[in-house]
Amino acid sequence: MAQTRGEKRLFGRSREKLASVFIKDEKIRPNVMLKYYLDLSGTDYLHWGYWEEGAELSLENFQAAQDRYAEELFKLIPPGVEWILDVGCGVGGNAKKLKEKGYKVAGLAPDPYQEQLFKERTGGEIPFLLTTFQDYKPERPYDLVLMSESVQYIPLDMTFVKAKEVLPTGGYLLTSDYYRLESSKGVKEHHLPSIYLQDFLEEAESQGFEILKQEDISAAVLPTLHYGQMLFSRYIKPTFSAQLLALKVHLPLGYKILKSFLRLRIKGEAIETIIRNNLVPLHPEVFSKYMKYLIILFRKK
Ligand SMILES: C[S@@+](CC[C@H](N)C(=O)[O-])C[C@H]1O[C@@H](n2cnc3c(N)ncnc32)[C@H](O)[C@@H]1O
Repeated sequence: MAQTRGEKRLFGRSREKLASVFIKDEKIRPNVMLKYYLDLSGTDYLHWGYWEEGAELSLENFQAAQDRYAEELFKLIPPGVEWILDVGCGVGGNAKKLKEKGYKVAGLAPDPYQEQLFKERTGGEIPFLLTTFQDYKPERPYDLVLMSESVQYIPLDMTFVKAKEVLPTGGYLLTSDYYRLESSKGVKEHHLPSIYLQDFLEEAESQGFEILKQEDISAAVLPTLHYGQMLFSRYIKPTFSAQLLALKVHLPLGYKILKSFLRLRIKGEAIETIIRNNLVPLHPEVFSKYMKYLIILFRKK
């Protein structure tokens, strides 16, 4: 039966709609671990939490701690700042809060999946720049560059070089992240970050940045790791074990194939070990012994 013009328009549109959903899914590959983490946390933040002393390790307190982290960080934004570049913006929690506080903000990250989530979660109202910071070509000057737990992802020899390109003289760089200490040299531990605090501070100085404020928030963020350990041992590990068991019982051949796959080695390490190392959270003792979590406000001289 021939379609009327109205029907054609309607069907045409729904086909377009369907196609756009299909194409979007085809192009943007979800990051499974990120999705899992976001479902577990129920927030728009990818950073640690800033806990109240003695707070119980609960989901509600973790969420409140993540929000407090952003509040504490933003207290260091100097007066007069208008435009902020949120480098390594994640899925938009910080950018949304900054906008609510009246700042003009743009997010930057290299991951198309995060771009999709960022746009959804900020209602498409905040610009998103899809690039690494090292490849970023500044499209406008900013008063402040924010790096909230993204320092460790960017090659150190590019961090201040790029920040210099983005900022005018007197502009600010606000960083919040964890660093390894000299005492960790030679220690073989999967979760240690790549950047040494000493190197970070030396690079800042050599690139012409002075420190205006520095806060050691290691003690306030530490409960995040205790919460992670609790979550892992009580929920995440048993869930994975149950899934493996279900596979073994209901699909023995699939289980055997999976086991053989997990025994394969990449650069000398079994895939099973690589996965386990990525899932098991950083131990609080390793953090306290070898790392520091600092908020630092720099100014470009
Ligand atoms: C731990 S998340 C922090 C997200 C967010 N700033 C927050 O506080 O919730 C690290 C972020 O850095 C981004 N990132 C990774 N490599 C990067 C790079 N080379 N340049 C810029 N951002 C990068 C990641 O995609 C992610 O958005």
